[in-house]
Amino acid sequence: MKRLWVVLFLLVISPLTRAGDLQQLLQLVDYVGVDYGEAVADGAVINAAEYEEMQDFAQGITQQVAGLPDSAGKKTLIQQSEQLSGLIAAKAQPADVNALTSRMRLAIVDGYKVTVVPRKQPDLARGAQLYSEQCASCHGASGDGLGPLAKGMEPPPINFRDHERYSQRTLYGLYNTITQGVPETAMTSYHELSAHDRWSMTFYVGQLATADDQRNAGEALLADPKLVSLTDIQKLTVITPAQAVSEFGADGGALMGYLRANPAALFSKDSPLQFSRHRLDDVLVAYRDGERETAYQLAVEAYLEGFELIEQGLNAVDSGLRIEIEQAMTGLRNQIRQGVSVEELESSIIDIKGKLDVASDRLEGRSLSGAAAFASAFFILIREGLEALLVVAALAAFLVKTEHRNSVHYLHIGWIGALAAGFLTWLASVSLIEISGAGREITEGIAALLARAVLFYVGFWLHDKTNGAQ
Ligand code: HEC
Repeated sequence: MKRLWVVLFLLVISPLTRAGDLQQLLQLVDYVGVDYGEAVADGAVINAAEYEEMQDFAQGITQQVAGLPDSAGKKTLIQQSEQLSGLIAAKAQPADVNALTSRMRLAIVDGYKVTVVPRKQPDLARGAQLYSEQCASCHGASGDGLGPLAKGMEPPPINFRDHERYSQRTLYGLYNTITQGVPETAMTSYHELSAHDRWSMTFYVGQLATADDQRNAGEALLADPKLVSLTDIQKLTVITPAQAVSEFGADGGALMGYLRANPAALFSKDSPLQFSRHRLDDVLVAYRDGERETAYQLAVEAYLEGFELIEQGLNAVDSGLRIEIEQAMTGLRNQIRQGVSVEELESSIIDIKGKLDVASDRLEGRSLSGAAAFASAFFILIREGLEALLVVAALAAFLVKTEHRNSVHYLHIGWIGALAAGFLTWLASVSLIEISGAGREITEGIAALLARAVLFYVGFWLHDKTNGAQ
């Protein structure tokens, strides 16, 4: 009897776990397709860490494909995953890798009937920008289908403002069209854009037909318990606005209009870094239990569903740290694969979590409060000012002691000149050169080296002169 329950339980949960695995497999495939271009160009590795990651993920893909349940497409997928590893090993052109990964994506989606959902909150502002750059020429700047290239086009570009058509389209369907294109029409595939970009455009074009009053009405319904299942991203992306109306009434239609324009309400507020930390804990638990395969998948999740989402933001403030964490995560996956001891894995995880803490400080540091920024600048100035005062006082004492009192005016010219030079540097830094991200680190580094050189020079000079004077 007990065994029967276990079997029943497994039957119930196995489709769920399978759906999760398939989502991750799709993510890995998408990730390799889009990011491979950052690892290899013209047959040569241009970023070793990125390349290592690609090799690791290709291996992960092969493993996950091997573990898929049997289906008509599995054999092709196995061949394709081997081909993918081969292309990466041969440092093939990014376009070839991308073409293969998009065939693989299709094979997974078709073969296993996966519904893809966005894993990161779609960014409508970014969607709008990409749309105006890449789509408006056909679909029109306002989405009315009357772009400059649309004249005489057969079939014509879709008018996204047409409410009738809007009612019949799921977000998932729009996403698929953007990803795959429509054969034998002017609508080509945009699979080379990242999944996040494609989803951002999907939500953007998917809300062009809604009116302000509809969306405003929808916002008021967010907390309505009758509509709660509609705020589930899985559901929202696969039903049409017409279905939302027939299932939930006019309120359902209004809420869908609101959510398509404001997807933030669909995504948890848990920070991506927090997510990574929790997943890393889960990795350790699974590894301790001897479930290496699960530990590996959780480690991939800790990276792709957490850290990777803030990678660009972190890159702007501390690109070195970003690379360090990325490499540490690759290292962790390799350790799991090699089957290191639990203690060793644990110490790597503690190390990564420490680095994630630094990352979150760095990201928060970007937005110092006014008072904190004032205090930090104030103390730096006081400290540096004191240092400068000491140097000037030492020089003055030296002149007096060596009976060069008449040369003191040179000293005055010096410090007044330094003030003027400081002012000019400030002017240049705010108006002439843009200092941001990695640029800031480089500027800091060069300035620190220059300052050391000047200090050494002054130190030696003083030493030399004091010796000479004696
Ligand atoms: C060269 C012209 C052209 C460009 C550029 C273009 N499209 Fe299209 N698009 C079309 C045509 C034509 C169709 C209609 C295809 C058909 O009839 O099945 C279409 C259909 C679509 C559909 C299907 C809509 C539906 O209701 O079925 C979506 C979604 C779409 N395009 C989005 C985009 C996005 C997003 C971009 C920019 C990244 C874009 N298109 C760029 C011509 C274009």
